[in-house]
Amino acid sequence: MISVTPSILVISVLNPNARVFDVIMRTEYGTSYNSYVVLGSEKIALIEAAHPDFLDVYFAHLGDALGDRVPDYLVLNHTEPDHTGTVAALLERYPDLKIVVSRPGSLFLKSIVNRDDLDCLIVGDGDTLDLGDKTLQFISAPLLHWPDTMFTYCPEERTIFTCDFLGAHFCEPETFDTKVSHRAAYLSAAQHYFDGIMSPFMPSVRDGLEKLGALDIDYACVSHGPILTRGCELERQIKRYAEWSADVARTRPLVPVFYCSAYGNTAALAERTCAGIRAAAPQADVELYDLIEYDLDELRALMNASDAFALGTPTINRNALPVVWELLAGIDGVNFAKRPVAVFGSYGWSGEGVPRVAEHLASLKANVFEQQLRVKFVPTKSDLASAEDFGRAFAEAIS
Ligand code: FEO
Repeated sequence: MISVTPSILVISVLNPNARVFDVIMRTEYGTSYNSYVVLGSEKIALIEAAHPDFLDVYFAHLGDALGDRVPDYLVLNHTEPDHTGTVAALLERYPDLKIVVSRPGSLFLKSIVNRDDLDCLIVGDGDTLDLGDKTLQFISAPLLHWPDTMFTYCPEERTIFTCDFLGAHFCEPETFDTKVSHRAAYLSAAQHYFDGIMSPFMPSVRDGLEKLGALDIDYACVSHGPILTRGCELERQIKRYAEWSADVARTRPLVPVFYCSAYGNTAALAERTCAGIRAAAPQADVELYDLIEYDLDELRALMNASDAFALGTPTINRNALPVVWELLAGIDGVNFAKRPVAVFGSYGWSGEGVPRVAEHLASLKANVFEQQLRVKFVPTKSDLASAEDFGRAFAEAIS
């Protein structure tokens, strides 16, 4: 058990062997699930719980932190199961524990603990909770990265509990940023984390930073990775988030062309589609991206930042390739509607890859280009010319 301040303890469940998080995100440096205990003179609050796979470790650490004391509140800054998977067990151990959560969080939580009768203390932006000589102040921060997200601030300790915001999937035995031994690896993990978790919600990131900027903060108690302290990574991480989320006014439309290719045939179509878009839209930034050659989180961020994009896939087993679906799994569903998208690809036997991807994108309310370019096996010169026409027509349709 480690103290952040004399009244704030951190319970850090370490998972150094995690290599995939939330099923889809690589975690090269493992992760930790951090939760906290705030000791007020009258009341005790827990902040966040833990992943259900680590229930025994979590309870062991919690016992070390609390001793015979019984917590009064459990504050959940959002309800994703890596921080709420132990809530049902906590309620069994502490039946009088009052859960403090945002209104949308209370609805999610009922289905996570499967208790319709769960009676939460619902808090909104600006509400406070009195622990005696400590206060918890709640700050609404929706879509960072769940709809129910909020921050919790303890002004007496100048400490903010940001849950996922500003965190990193990075597992060090030491809990604080001052103790990080491989700083370059930490920075890489922090950017990867931002790209994968926060980048789909850039306006919300900027709102969150503005709210933090109004506070006097010595510690940012994140739910993954090292705690950020003033004078070490706190200011730097906030500055990095500001840079990464900057609303750069683009003077040129961004129209990436993504593809994967088994034998170079979809690649050839991608090149000519790209050439067609460039010819018809010389004012646009149009680049080719082979899904196998790039970091998928970077490409997902690019896709979400784009004004339009084209996507090429072969067909294997009557479907698009897994890497195509992996890319599309990162679509920002909040801001994706009406995004112009064109789909193309080479196939050998039946060719379902292209229409399946187009159908999926339409279901996400994309503006799917009515033409679909499909070529059997190796593109002929005529097919390549058609690919260029396809790209040109797509560009003209979105200009
Ligand atoms: Fe770490 Fe969104 O949960």
